[in-house]
Amino acid sequence: MKVLVATQKPFAAAAVAGIKKIVEEAGHTLALLEKYADQADLEAAVADADALIVRSDKVTAQVVAAAKNLKIVVRAGAGYDNLDLEACTAAKVVAMNTPGQNANAVAELAIAMMIYMSRNQFTPGTGCEVQGKKVGIQAYGNVGRLVAQKAKALGMEVMAFDPFVPAEKMVAEGVTPASSLEDMYKACNFVSLHIPAIPATIGSIGANLLKLLPKGGCLVNTARKEVINEPELAAILAEREDLKYITDVAASNQAELDEKFGKRVFATPKKMGAETAEANINAGLAAANQICDFFATGCTRFQLNK
Ligand code: 3PG
Repeated sequence: MKVLVATQKPFAAAAVAGIKKIVEEAGHTLALLEKYADQADLEAAVADADALIVRSDKVTAQVVAAAKNLKIVVRAGAGYDNLDLEACTAAKVVAMNTPGQNANAVAELAIAMMIYMSRNQFTPGTGCEVQGKKVGIQAYGNVGRLVAQKAKALGMEVMAFDPFVPAEKMVAEGVTPASSLEDMYKACNFVSLHIPAIPATIGSIGANLLKLLPKGGCLVNTARKEVINEPELAAILAEREDLKYITDVAASNQAELDEKFGKRVFATPKKMGAETAEANINAGLAAANQICDFFATGCTRFQLNK
């Protein structure tokens, strides 16, 4: 079988070497398409692939249609809003992700972002400490739980809101369950977003929530820009001169935010939450193993389009 790794944002070399070893030891061949310029390059490269590993690369209906031999696509990472699951299902292509594999890297970045904003983006002047502050975790999944653990180690108080996680589990882990999102935003100096971009969440973080943050409150977004109501974010930052926003995914109106709000906002130049060698190795090797298991035994653990 031919396994194509197609990554506009390449994996670390050690991850590629590990993927190659797993794939070849299982008797398959590996092809690599990195830093490609255009979707057409992906469509051409996938034409004879049996399996595909991607990161945030867009696996559109056109890509699926171009991939006549494709049997499985694995998103090496958590969020799968870049996969057209309907097109995969229609073409009988199994789609998977690798949940949790890059979670630690993203959690570390979320914590770093809280400290960066507390220290005025490392510019001279008096900042503040995160110890003793309260962070609200919006979605207590793989990343959210790790942010909670690290925040507690820093002496922060942690709240979380997640309708899909039992309150007892949060309590057992030293986290205060919020009875509503509104209550969490009201109580927390930082809110850290860990929700996926799905119809229910897209555009859901707007003025109605952000206005509830206490004085100096900061929203930390290592999730997806699509979950933010961007015009409302700009409006509330203008109205509340104390609020801050830091994001790993530049807003569509980031230039406007940067110009108007200066050091109260920050966006990484390119999404870097999962940009560690460790996360690349964990997610990349998991993807390779999932593909080899699928071909060897038909295992469909982590299938998204069941
Ligand atoms: C994810 O959903 O796993 C993260 O956003 C990482 O995405 P990336 O592989 O494009 O860095």
